[in-house]
Amino acid sequence: MNILAIETSCDETSAAVVVDGREVLSNIIESQIPIHKVYGGVVPEIASRNHLMKISDVVDKALEKAKMTFDDVDKIAVTYGPGLVGALLVGVNYAKGLCFALNKPIVPVNHMLGHLSSPLITYKDLKPPYIALVVSGGHTYLAKMLDYTILEVVGETRDDAIGEAYDKVARTLNFEYPGGPKIDKAAKLGDPNKIKFPRVYLEKDSLDFSFSGIKSAVLNYVNSEKMKGNEIDVNSVAAGFQEAVLEVVVEKSRRALELYGYDKIVIAGGVAANTRLREMFDELSQKTGIGVYYPDFEYCTDNAAMIGAAAYYLEGSDDPLTLNAEPGLRL
Ligand code: KG4
Ligand code: ZN
Repeated sequence: MNILAIETSCDETSAAVVVDGREVLSNIIESQIPIHKVYGGVVPEIASRNHLMKISDVVDKALEKAKMTFDDVDKIAVTYGPGLVGALLVGVNYAKGLCFALNKPIVPVNHMLGHLSSPLITYKDLKPPYIALVVSGGHTYLAKMLDYTILEVVGETRDDAIGEAYDKVARTLNFEYPGGPKIDKAAKLGDPNKIKFPRVYLEKDSLDFSFSGIKSAVLNYVNSEKMKGNEIDVNSVAAGFQEAVLEVVVEKSRRALELYGYDKIVIAGGVAANTRLREMFDELSQKTGIGVYYPDFEYCTDNAAMIGAAAYYLEGSDDPLTLNAEPGLRL
């Protein structure tokens, strides 16, 4: 099954060719980060315009790299939500046009299911059931993955996503967008125990998260130090912040594994690229024997290969023209 997949939900224009859900023949990613950097975050209108300019070329490159033509493609998969509506519409309409013209089935894919499917590319024998943790720029979920496309959300953020917290704290520390990777790097040079930020666990048995308080805690710390005329130890702030959020994420994941009796956890989304997160989950794995599965780095942040991986397990539709973008789509 040759799937051509398209992803345009945020600031990456991406197209991929994936065979049988696991073998990636091409995964072209045109990142708009350099364009949005100057604004300190993604500007939706600019994202849509750049997707429009790039999409056709990116799809052609994906086919070329896979040494295929449209004739070789069995199905066309596309992210239809969640994401920025204008950005999603570019990919959705492009895929609809292709499917209509070529008479091929369309497979609408939830972006978050795409993230959750990214480790399937890395681990060819990985099969549900397992616990899934999504840590991305827009979402934070803990779920029971019952099958490839059937899941039950058991915890989610009540306010900011974890990646959003990373990006906001990075801004406070004057790091460029996107701040997650910069905090990751700076934290390695800092002392995680120098500044103790709050660990937010919410109610005793809750598997939900809250990341908006820590963002204010970091801002208050930085402002009060500045007012006292003290120099900010940026690396230790980054390390202290990271330790506080990741400790909660790892502990809640451990509880979910124990509560539901699972022995595997799959971690996906942009923040799954974080080195400290991987260290902490590796420690958990060594202590408890649970299996921890991360995507390869290139499949952590937004890409079309993960959409092609998810699409393999989903039904296609022969009626492409009714599909619409759903910016608020839930997992
Ligand atoms: O999954 P993703 O590409 O976008 C959404 O679907 O939301 O994730 C992007 C997020 C950004 O917040 C970025 O700062 C964060 O992932 N990120 C990281 C790292 N690499 C990317 N956060 C922490 N450490 C990293 N190494
Ligand atoms: Zn994403």
